[in-house]
Amino acid sequence: MKNDLILYSSQREYCDKVRGITYSYLLKNGKRPMYFTHTFGCQQNESDTEKINGMLSDMGYEKTENREEADVILYNTCAVREHAEQRVFGTIGSLVGIKRERPDVIVAFCGCMMQREEIASELSKKYKHVDLVFGPQAIGRFPENLYNCITCHERIFDVKKEKGSIVEDIPVQRASSYKAWVSVMYGCNNFCSYCIVPYVRGRERSRPPEKVIEEVSSLISEGYKDITLLGQNVNSYCNDTDSNWNFAKLLRMINDIDGDFRIRFMTSHPKDATKELIDTVAECPKICKHLHLPFQSGSNRILSLMNRRYTREQYLDLIGYARSVIPDLVLTSDVIVGFPSETDDDFNETVSLVDKVGFQGLYTFIYSVRSGTPAASMLQIDESVKHERFDRLCALQNFKATQFNSNYIGKTVKILVDGSMGNDNTLQTGRTDGNIIVNFPSCGAMPGEFIDIKIDMALNWAIFGQAINK
Ligand code: SAH
Ligand code: SF4
Ligand code: F3S
Repeated sequence: MKNDLILYSSQREYCDKVRGITYSYLLKNGKRPMYFTHTFGCQQNESDTEKINGMLSDMGYEKTENREEADVILYNTCAVREHAEQRVFGTIGSLVGIKRERPDVIVAFCGCMMQREEIASELSKKYKHVDLVFGPQAIGRFPENLYNCITCHERIFDVKKEKGSIVEDIPVQRASSYKAWVSVMYGCNNFCSYCIVPYVRGRERSRPPEKVIEEVSSLISEGYKDITLLGQNVNSYCNDTDSNWNFAKLLRMINDIDGDFRIRFMTSHPKDATKELIDTVAECPKICKHLHLPFQSGSNRILSLMNRRYTREQYLDLIGYARSVIPDLVLTSDVIVGFPSETDDDFNETVSLVDKVGFQGLYTFIYSVRSGTPAASMLQIDESVKHERFDRLCALQNFKATQFNSNYIGKTVKILVDGSMGNDNTLQTGRTDGNIIVNFPSCGAMPGEFIDIKIDMALNWAIFGQAINK
């Protein structure tokens, strides 16, 4: 099997044409045209937006945080829950006035939600002020679509169903100068029964290992300190190819690159998390001792309805093994409450799993119906029951997180500094290897610097302390 590999340079013709347009704009107005982009959704979408920003800069646009002055306004959307989609519809509505006042503005929507047929057709019929719509698989055709949109004054919908390809060499405009996302694979083959992702992001495609290693190496030589490898299920890396590569091997190769940096990865599907992977995390010093292992439910009956393909017992065994070989492991997870037909007994199994494991962090989601997925036609449960369960689980998790974080009191942790805490210059913040937020009185450390903090206080969402040797 071979994945379709497309190079960004195949878009050169269109990039050059748009560059011509932005250059004429510069001559006429004494400044470059501007773009505004905003991301909804997960890290994969954040990473895609950085590529779109890179292409827009490459084509001669300048970035702005103020959409009122932008010539291209683009939103990258998420379809994972209904609430995410409602926010996007709110945003679409809020753009009517801008388009009326400045008809030449390009209003674009891309990402997972746009790949849903019913959404694209609703936008096409009812929201005529939206000029350009494209799905995640069309990102490599962005210059062509933008050029056609500007010059033909036509609306463009590039949302056809396709299995997806791998586009390499897109110029990336990264949001941070010391933290970076690197995709190792795209798409998902798992079809968990509640999830829309496999329908909108296509089948699994793994990037060639040499491309991943090349990207990580050049980031490290540019001074990046914290690299997160991305994929919907990184544990199936290269399963879609004929090669004998796997994710553990890729991690070892990256760990061997010279330099002072950290490697993280997400997400791992428990069904494919092997001992080899866990041993690799344990043995490689640059790999963060952090596993994000979504369990979704503690009930075997619900896990089976979810098509997760592991049991509660297998999950607990896996975690037991990980903790035995990585004593300072930080575990985080995702869970869904109120999945169709979930009974009190099923939910109590989830509660008991959370109690037993003691996750440092837990993303708790209320089940949201996604039309077209198998769970949408299962027996739905009452909204008020879902909310009551959600509150109960969050209360337990807050307690468990505080308990976990309290273990750091009196210990010294190495953190990567992120900068000031909001607008407060007297406090700074950073992250541990396990990705725990650490706040401390400002000590003059720079963002992207590693420093040591002695911890003296713990809450459920962060730990607090003082910089030492600084
Ligand atoms: N590929 C990742 C998850 C991506 S989606 C994985 O398998 O772990 C992120 C999280 O959103 C999921 O882990 C799940 O907990 C949640 N989620 C997905 N679909 C959902 C739905 N229909 N309703 C509520 N939560 C959902
Ligand atoms: Fe969705 Fe499951 Fe794929 Fe994760 S593994 S993206 S939850 S289908
Ligand atoms: Fe991510 Fe949302 Fe798409 S969670 S993969 S942006 S549906």
